[in-house]
Amino acid sequence: MSISFLVLAFFLQYCFTSSLYHPLDPLNSTEINQIKLIIQKSKLGGLPDLTFHSVDLEEPDKRFVLKWLSASKQGKTNLPRQSKVVVRGGGETHELVVDLGTDSIKSHHIYTGHGYPPLTFNELFKASKLPLSYPKFKNEMIRRGLNLSEVSCIPFTVGWYGEHVTKRALRVQCFYRGGSVNVFARPIGGISMLVDVDKMKITVYIDTRLRVPLPKAEGTDFRSPKGKPDSIICNLTNTRLTIEGHKVKWGNWVLHVSFDARAGIIISTASIFDAKFNKFRRILYRGHVSETFVPYMDPTSEWYFKTFMDVGEFGFGRAADTLQPMIDCPANAKYMDGYVAGADGQAQQFPNVICIFERYDGNVAWRHTEINVPGKVIRSGEPEINLVVRMVATVGNYDYVLDWEFKNSGTIKVGVHLTGILEMKATSYTNNDQITENVYGTLVADDVVAVNHDHYVTYYLDLDVDGNGNSFIKSKLQTARVTNSIVSLRKSYWMVIRETVKREAEARVRLGLKPTELLIVNPNKKTKLGNHVGYRLIPGQPVASLLSDDDYPQIRAAYTKYQVWVTAYNKSERWAGGLYADGSRGDDGLAVWSRRNREIENRDIVMWYTVGFHHVPCQEDFPVMPTIHGGFELRPANFFESNPLLSQPQKCTKTC
Ligand code: MN
Ligand code: CU
Repeated sequence: MSISFLVLAFFLQYCFTSSLYHPLDPLNSTEINQIKLIIQKSKLGGLPDLTFHSVDLEEPDKRFVLKWLSASKQGKTNLPRQSKVVVRGGGETHELVVDLGTDSIKSHHIYTGHGYPPLTFNELFKASKLPLSYPKFKNEMIRRGLNLSEVSCIPFTVGWYGEHVTKRALRVQCFYRGGSVNVFARPIGGISMLVDVDKMKITVYIDTRLRVPLPKAEGTDFRSPKGKPDSIICNLTNTRLTIEGHKVKWGNWVLHVSFDARAGIIISTASIFDAKFNKFRRILYRGHVSETFVPYMDPTSEWYFKTFMDVGEFGFGRAADTLQPMIDCPANAKYMDGYVAGADGQAQQFPNVICIFERYDGNVAWRHTEINVPGKVIRSGEPEINLVVRMVATVGNYDYVLDWEFKNSGTIKVGVHLTGILEMKATSYTNNDQITENVYGTLVADDVVAVNHDHYVTYYLDLDVDGNGNSFIKSKLQTARVTNSIVSLRKSYWMVIRETVKREAEARVRLGLKPTELLIVNPNKKTKLGNHVGYRLIPGQPVASLLSDDDYPQIRAAYTKYQVWVTAYNKSERWAGGLYADGSRGDDGLAVWSRRNREIENRDIVMWYTVGFHHVPCQEDFPVMPTIHGGFELRPANFFESNPLLSQPQKCTKTC
């Protein structure tokens, strides 16, 4: 080997490690497999039923990450690579912190609180197969004249309804394909089974004796007859986009994109370049989906338990799908793979699970026509070109398209788009005029009622606007009377009443008709003109849970009573519905943490925002739903000295 080759090899290796390493990089497949080995070699390895439920990056302390970010141009550091692991074995839940550098288990304790870790895909799969060999169920299928090989069963989490002792359980209901690919459209009514997950067997067989027809297969096929579209969209050229490992640079933005089994996409250390000051300024330390809550509004024995918390019970990352080019993402998209640990601890690759692309929607970033300059018409403006980071989680019947969109104006727009298949039940009705009882939903096809429900997607937003010390400002727009009739002919106007929120209890906000401006500001930083630099929350539709406070699902998802919460930063407080969401009792999570009423003025704070939908199904949602859109925006408010777009000219360089 020649010297020059050695130098080249060293140089390549140096470049590779230095450019790809970030302390918040997700665990890669080598690391996940190393963790598996470390645990297998420990005394836990002797447990015959050892199951890996969660293998996540144990984040280094924020101050170390920030130090690394600011000090570096950006070399590999000696920050420890550690993992938080939750395994079950011998009927117990074990929490471990594993250190990859020393190949050792740093801490290990048995969790004895309420609730259970996310169900593994293996458990869900095995539970779904149990009815097919269960004699009572098999006999019932024969009695109904159904072919067992055409039956698909689906396990559902069961929530918690005040039981003193709980077991890990799933309730399984079955559907008849029989010529349809739309599994959810043909429920086999009246029958369900309770599964003890640790024993993996059916413990209760439930037959309500309610005999309803099997909905027909005709009209349920949702496959597109058109196939994949050709390149119908003009492609942007991504000239301003670079991706190195998980580090994404685009226009004036730099951010870190990672993939997590529980949250799906995690955006970290997002900063924006401020041309006026010639430096990057921090905005978002970490942002991701924290929990979802999907309660169905049918209180009867076959449906009452359907109150899902999908992120904690299954994981949005685990439910993430390989993206389809030209359907899920445009032709110019770049893709990122994800890695998660399977039930046996082995790394599993999720190919093309995140896509990243520039997008021009035909929107206007800004414009103006000036006709008051004598002899001239001055027309100017720029197109709005944004960067989108996207994933799709298919959680059983529903598909969630989840977007983080970054704009050159400094705005971050979060999109939650719902599509997929409704959850439906079999009835004996074929026309709405026949229905005289409460069916808790809408007749969407012959013998099929789609049940009313909600979707709440709660975001964790650790905003660090221009630094850690931030405050939450609630500004009310209040009508004021003009009292001096000599000065003005007006009777009224509105003015802004600013309130700096001191503690967590006052930082719960139920949005409604009252105009409110919600800001996260840095009270230590002012613009040249003396305004506190800040970011404003532009909320979407104000949706809050309508369940009563004493209802068990509401106790578990108490945080859905308010759209906005602000809490003091605490590394361990990330999952709004609690770390152990399956069978949880509401004793961990956002509502409980906020009750501590910590000070939040000029502190490191976290904002939580819930995107909500009350979903009253309609016939167009059958057999597959046209996408419904929701979301929110974080928009700079006195963050820049003036419109930042003017120093970042947009060019629409398209190839069509
Ligand atoms: Mn913060
Ligand atoms: Cu829905």
